Amino acid sequence: MIRPAVVAHGGAGAGPERQVNVEEAVIRAADILKRGGSALEAAIEACVILEDDPVFNAGTGSVFRTDGSVLVDASIQTSDGRMGFVVAMKDTPNPIRIAADLLDEEINGLAGEGARIWADSKGFDKRKVVGRIPHEESTDTVGVIARDKDGLIVCATSTGGCSNRPPGRVGDVPLPGCGFWVQKEVGVGATGIGEAITRAMLSYRVADRICADIEIEEAIKSTLDEVIDDKSEVGVIALSLQGLGVGISNRNNMPWATWCAE
Ligand code: GLY
Repeated sequence: MIRPAVVAHGGAGAGPERQVNVEEAVIRAADILKRGGSALEAAIEACVILEDDPVFNAGTGSVFRTDGSVLVDASIQTSDGRMGFVVAMKDTPNPIRIAADLLDEEINGLAGEGARIWADSKGFDKRKVVGRIPHEESTDTVGVIARDKDGLIVCATSTGGCSNRPPGRVGDVPLPGCGFWVQKEVGVGATGIGEAITRAMLSYRVADRICADIEIEEAIKSTLDEVIDDKSEVGVIALSLQGLGVGISNRNNMPWATWCAE
């Protein structure tokens, strides 16, 4: 029997004071899964809760780019082989909904103005995202991985991009294998310095180790130790077909929470 489950994080650096906010998203996903809803619905709706919470660097709480603009990225991937991602979208408080809209399309990803044109054509919410000034303690990215009773695993991630990045910059969140990866029976999501995550193709690497039967915690820790430099703050969540979700960051300050059905 497959037990529905979810794991979510509020970003590398968000700290323990954001724990309760992450738990709210997990409760939302758990409610959906308990009533027999899909991992897809659970991951999207939990991600929307985090995007709508101004304390997180995603959706509403996204930090300014160096030119003062607010540009958001999001991605979603399913264990039945579908993927969607959007890059540097303006005026989009919930980019995860646009990424999810691409799951059943011929294309996987859309960027910038083209992504917004697509969203407008489908009637997705268009609103100025006010954003906020990045501070030293600014957080980074939100992520959710859900598993449903049918064994579908879905990973959803969303971000305003880590602090002090220019408007055309592409981070890890919309790049497959970097900020997110789902393969076979494993989902992985990353948070932190996008350049370090991308250079390491971090999420793919962790998923591959878990698929090689390395225990999840060990797979995350050993990969972070081996491929992330000491200067880069990075965290990872992962969930496989069995067991509980796991979250680990190399600074131990990433709020994360998990739930699993009895
Ligand atoms: N990890 C989010 C970013 O670097 O944009």
